[in-house]
Amino acid sequence: MKIFLSMVILFVSIEANEVNIYTHRHYPSDEILFKKFTGKTGIKVNVVQANADQIMKRLEEEGRYTPADILLTVDVGRLTYAKERGLLQPIHSKFLEEVIPINLRDRDGSWFAVTKRARVLVYNIDSVDPKSLSTYESLANKEYKGSILTQSSSSIYNQSLLASIIAHSGRKEAKAWAGGVRSNFARKPTGSDRDQMRALAAGIGKVAIVNTYYVGQLLNSKSFSDKAVAQMIGIFFPNQGENERGTHINISGVGVTKYAKHRENAIKFIEFLCSPEAQKVFTSVNYEYPANKNVAPSKLLQSWGSFKEDSIELYKLGQYNAEAVKIFNEVGWY
Ligand SMILES: [Fe+2]
Repeated sequence: MKIFLSMVILFVSIEANEVNIYTHRHYPSDEILFKKFTGKTGIKVNVVQANADQIMKRLEEEGRYTPADILLTVDVGRLTYAKERGLLQPIHSKFLEEVIPINLRDRDGSWFAVTKRARVLVYNIDSVDPKSLSTYESLANKEYKGSILTQSSSSIYNQSLLASIIAHSGRKEAKAWAGGVRSNFARKPTGSDRDQMRALAAGIGKVAIVNTYYVGQLLNSKSFSDKAVAQMIGIFFPNQGENERGTHINISGVGVTKYAKHRENAIKFIEFLCSPEAQKVFTSVNYEYPANKNVAPSKLLQSWGSFKEDSIELYKLGQYNAEAVKIFNEVGWY
């Protein structure tokens, strides 16, 4: 009996000393952080990596039998979707509520941002005077005919950008904007944010819409040609005027799954990701902006300048996601 009991206790303690993560992110920064967390707490981190849709599908299919304790993904649209589908549970953490600004977390505590990324304009420094750039809205003007590079509308980054315009200006203006930008495309949308910058450097188009950390990735790339691409582009933070709303930001975020078997470990893990130690890794290794309001961005990010952020509560971007997809289809931005 004694042996049996101690086996049960041993089993329970092994069970309790791990945390299972489903993640869409695939960055070196995260590998470093998983190891650091285990080193600090003794909690083993088990990771399942897949694309965002596969992860979501798997969580839904596994239901209460899922081994996942944590969902780590990018873009608030996906976090909102996960919450709406009942895949996450609310948690309370004094630390998280103190350091993560209210617009960067779910009101019920179902998800929290771990990093921020700005969706900015980048331009070819040879052909564009940054003084001529101003807002996202201006990209729909005729003067940009044949100049704009961006991903297809299947990019959740573009969906969230358009959702922010719907939230701020209404459907009609958002549709006019999407149609205007579409008629200014330098080419049919294709490839990733990095591909837009490669095209810029190759003389295709003049202005691209990209997330900031991809500029950092190109600058620090092992590829000589990508490094050269980064040298040919400038970063511009749009919508910075006094009466303007600021540059669109999005997040990487994390939540505890509804059926987490290691809830306490999962909360510890999220608190660790938002700690100054981990936030410094995110900003220096993956060139993202810290979500913790008390942590400064890396030197490289600081060199790009400070900027006013659109402070819209991010859950609204999830609310308008379906409408944004519809508008893209209506205007033929595929
Ligand atoms: Fe990305």
